[in-house]
Amino acid sequence: MLADKNIILGVTGSIAAYKAVELASKLTQAGAKVDVVMTEAATEFVTPLTFRTITHRRVATGMFESPSEVDIQHIALAERADVVVIAPATATVIAKLASGIADDLLCCTVLATKAPLILAPAMNVNMYENPITQDNLARLRARGFTIVEPAYGVLASGKIGRGRLADIDHILGTIRQVLGKGGDLAEKHIIVTAGGTQEPIDPVRYIGNRSSGKMGYALAEAARDRGAEVTLITTPTSIPLPIGVEVVQVQTALQMKEAVLNAVPQADTLIMAAAVADYRPATLAESKIKKETTPQLSLELIRNPDILSEVEGSLVKVGFAAESEDLIQNATAKLKEKDLDLIVANDITVADSGFGADTNKVVLIDRRGNIEDLPLLPKSEVAHKVLDKVVELMGRQTYVILPIGYEKYGWKVVDRKGCRHLLQAPKGRYGIYINPFRRRYVVMTEVCLLRPVKELEDAQYFLEHGRILVGYKKYGYEVKAIKDDRYLLETPKKRYGVYTNPFRKDEVCLLRPVKKLEDAQHFLEHGYLPDKQRP
Ligand SMILES: Cc1cc2nc3c(=O)[nH]c(=O)nc-3n(C[C@H](O)[C@H](O)[C@H](O)COP(=O)(O)O)c2cc1C
Repeated sequence: MLADKNIILGVTGSIAAYKAVELASKLTQAGAKVDVVMTEAATEFVTPLTFRTITHRRVATGMFESPSEVDIQHIALAERADVVVIAPATATVIAKLASGIADDLLCCTVLATKAPLILAPAMNVNMYENPITQDNLARLRARGFTIVEPAYGVLASGKIGRGRLADIDHILGTIRQVLGKGGDLAEKHIIVTAGGTQEPIDPVRYIGNRSSGKMGYALAEAARDRGAEVTLITTPTSIPLPIGVEVVQVQTALQMKEAVLNAVPQADTLIMAAAVADYRPATLAESKIKKETTPQLSLELIRNPDILSEVEGSLVKVGFAAESEDLIQNATAKLKEKDLDLIVANDITVADSGFGADTNKVVLIDRRGNIEDLPLLPKSEVAHKVLDKVVELMGRQTYVILPIGYEKYGWKVVDRKGCRHLLQAPKGRYGIYINPFRRRYVVMTEVCLLRPVKELEDAQYFLEHGRILVGYKKYGYEVKAIKDDRYLLETPKKRYGVYTNPFRKDEVCLLRPVKKLEDAQHFLEHGYLPDKQRP
């Protein structure tokens, strides 16, 4: 997904500037076109030559070194950019951007671009915690910048605190997530299970299996990169947790079942890539079983529930079948038995495939009997192939929409997005139509009226975002920022409200007006006010 993307990497005068070299290198290796723009201070820490050698592209530094080039080439770069990332971002550049100061090439580029903006601050803990810096960051957040929070740890000064540049893989994950917005899985919620379950025998031992979690993690990351909201339900693994996905940690099959059943009502697709134990010990020893007192040990094992067959609803269900013989036959039987839409069958006898490997050799079989035999591929590529199928299967389910019953009243479909329709009524009113009961996963044969609106603009807002904002505009409220289902609105008297409707995502409502912008921004970011504990 990074291939051929135009990425502007801003590097500023922080001691962490050398880490931007690794970021530039990883982005370039992934196929992105990386244009590095350095502040003058940054060149004191790393030379432009380093970035030029890594990216194979010219590196921009001073604004006045070649003004005509700056005007033409760098404004063009800003216009063409898919994303602008500043890593590391100093307190100075953060302050300048928060105030709209454009006295160097990097700040000019940021002001000139319409691309999404990502900032990864790095500085001394006191500088970072200083209310001035925090206020500047809050202002940038409210303007739509994505801030990759710095990490906690030992800083260059020797102090311990928050201020270290976030891990490079964390910044990369954020770039992928930002670029993925609007992908073919946008607005879809996908649950992925990963890893091998661990069934405890006593406080120190468990029955496990050889699943590494790599396939599930690759699926979660690929779905995120295509714009999906992802819930990853994982057992303990040795792989770093993916950035930008909701993670639910479990250990046993029973815990995994509970987590899956909790998540399913909101989901469009469930992908069960985890290796769930078929059996668990009938009893759990409360203290460690000692070999001295237990010369021989027999374990009684009982069956674990079959999670997939307990999942109800018409979401797309994808299962995995690890087989060592009669691959297609066994996998097809499993697909039917569990009523799956798709099964990913892998022959675990193939070298470099299956458990623990970075590559996988799989066959995709869908419920219509279509068989796609894929070559040995990296698990990240297998993940995208599986998701291509998921998109196709979801399309089969959701895009059969017939707005019947409205034509006879003179309603006309003027636009459509996903399962939402924008209909125009004969008297010039607009209606947004959706089936609230069966919106996510079923074949829809009819749409129904949620709420008619007078202004086309309001209807279009719903069409785009899936939420209605009417009712607030007339009081002069302005939307300053949106995160998940939360809105930050500014009242005409410069009070701030964090708005969300826990019951209906198509509408926003006042939760509590606050005087301080930071408090509202805190809610926007975290989902709770600073004076409250996380719910
Ligand atoms: C050795 C050294 C390390 C520095 N590290 C940081 C840093 O990590 N973060 C920061 O905000 N400023 C840091 N500074 C201060 C900035 O370099 C200084 O504010 C500079 O004006 C930033 O300019 P720029 O934002 O245009 O790159 C450091 C300065 C020195 C001399």
